[in-house]
Amino acid sequence: ADETITLTLDTDAPAITIAPEIYGQFAEHLGSCIYGGIWVGEDSSIPNTSGYRNDVISAFKELHIPVLRWPGGCFADEYHWVDGIGPKENRPRMVNNNWGGTVEDNSFGTHEFFNLCELIGTEPYLSGNVGSGSVEELAKWVEYITAADGPMAKLRKENGREKPWKLKYLGVGNESWGCGGNFTPEFYADVYRRYQTYCRNFNGNHLYKIASGASDYDYKWTDVLMKNAGNLMDGISLHYYTTPGWTGSKGSATKFTDDDYYWTLGKCLEIEDVIKKHADIMDKYDPKKRVGLLVDEWGTWWDQEPGSIPGHLYQQNTMRDAMVAALSLNVFHKYTDRVKMANIAQIANVLQSMVLTKDDKMVLTPTYYVFKMYVPHQGARMIPVTAQFPEMKVRSERSDTLRTLPMLSATASEKDGVVTVSMTNISLDKAYKIEIPLGDIKAKNITGEILTSDNIAAYNDFDHPNDVKIKPFDTKNVKVKKGVLSLTLPAKSIVTLSLR
Ligand code: AHR
Repeated sequence: ADETITLTLDTDAPAITIAPEIYGQFAEHLGSCIYGGIWVGEDSSIPNTSGYRNDVISAFKELHIPVLRWPGGCFADEYHWVDGIGPKENRPRMVNNNWGGTVEDNSFGTHEFFNLCELIGTEPYLSGNVGSGSVEELAKWVEYITAADGPMAKLRKENGREKPWKLKYLGVGNESWGCGGNFTPEFYADVYRRYQTYCRNFNGNHLYKIASGASDYDYKWTDVLMKNAGNLMDGISLHYYTTPGWTGSKGSATKFTDDDYYWTLGKCLEIEDVIKKHADIMDKYDPKKRVGLLVDEWGTWWDQEPGSIPGHLYQQNTMRDAMVAALSLNVFHKYTDRVKMANIAQIANVLQSMVLTKDDKMVLTPTYYVFKMYVPHQGARMIPVTAQFPEMKVRSERSDTLRTLPMLSATASEKDGVVTVSMTNISLDKAYKIEIPLGDIKAKNITGEILTSDNIAAYNDFDHPNDVKIKPFDTKNVKVKKGVLSLTLPAKSIVTLSLR
């Protein structure tokens, strides 16, 4: 490493907590995310607890998932919750029109979802049906889940759940500009106002109401929603996928050139500009930042794996995806004054997933390992990091211009006296020397972890489940001299250090 980069950690910055919900997940009735990925049913030969796969559940527990969004996605606006309660043999079947026309037997419904959340210790986030549902249907769903008494509570009790559940996050529709009803922003804002009126707070439960927000660069959507309904919402969503586009091939998840790789990271980092622009609009209507910007769908979207079922969005996950995860999380930390939640798409077997399953086998993806390494940042005090990073230029798909891509990225936080610094070197061939002036940060005891691979396209599959995994970072590589910590950050690596 010949080039030295200095990271300045501003420990005196005003205290702001990294919203733990930035580490949220998303589980849709899509492909084998729910069925096969999480839920196999009590009678399955795959080891399970009350129908939930044991291997997957213990992997999820390690991530300390703060919030889980369900049942969609596009599925949510065709989902009728009453079809998913009561004896399984009586539940009607439906066609999952959005995702491959697969028949859905409704065996995983409200009870199965809330019990899953209890099992893994996560806050449920329901996406309500606005597109093809009714105000009454959504209002009754909230009542069914949270009321202690009354007709909906009675029905819930008959179905085996005496105590109401707690429900905080309620999404009023999903992608209402598209699969969720093709609304105009003006019309949706009015619909939102109406729906949210009838979603009541029962028995001390308090709903955090979320309006269906914009995709990518649709700033008008955010503007109209904030202007016409901002006072009636707690959060507004934003969807941003790292993908080459919505028509034609999106490219292979595992076979890509160096140029594709750098292009991907450029596209991923453009989320910073997108967040800033939506946040600026929100500032106009909500200068006190009461309303959260929730990036409730994000991640990579590649062509489905050859041979997999069309419409099921099953894709592999390489070190390139791990880079996208680390860079995105670093951006979310930086804007956590506005970004109060993010939900990567999706938790199992769909898009940029945490786990892949096949029959009774499961592998953890490189993205899973980034989430694991970043657990200490959840709910920690954010420490702003500044640095002069070397840059390269990459092509931008939206114009002929070139976009600037920093070769490094870093984030830091402090919790319980431990400072956690996460650093990413995206360069395919160059290591960098990093120096961190410590100031009053204690670094008597330093431990670290690294996620890297010689091959940026490396991934884990059922025959090679451990090709990419976290390794201890050799702290012989880390020196502290005259109050400055230094280390070499290898090419293609993500490193987290804990200083105490
Ligand atoms: O995550 C897959 C799909 O992407 C979701 O169903 C939809 O909201 C988005 O378009």
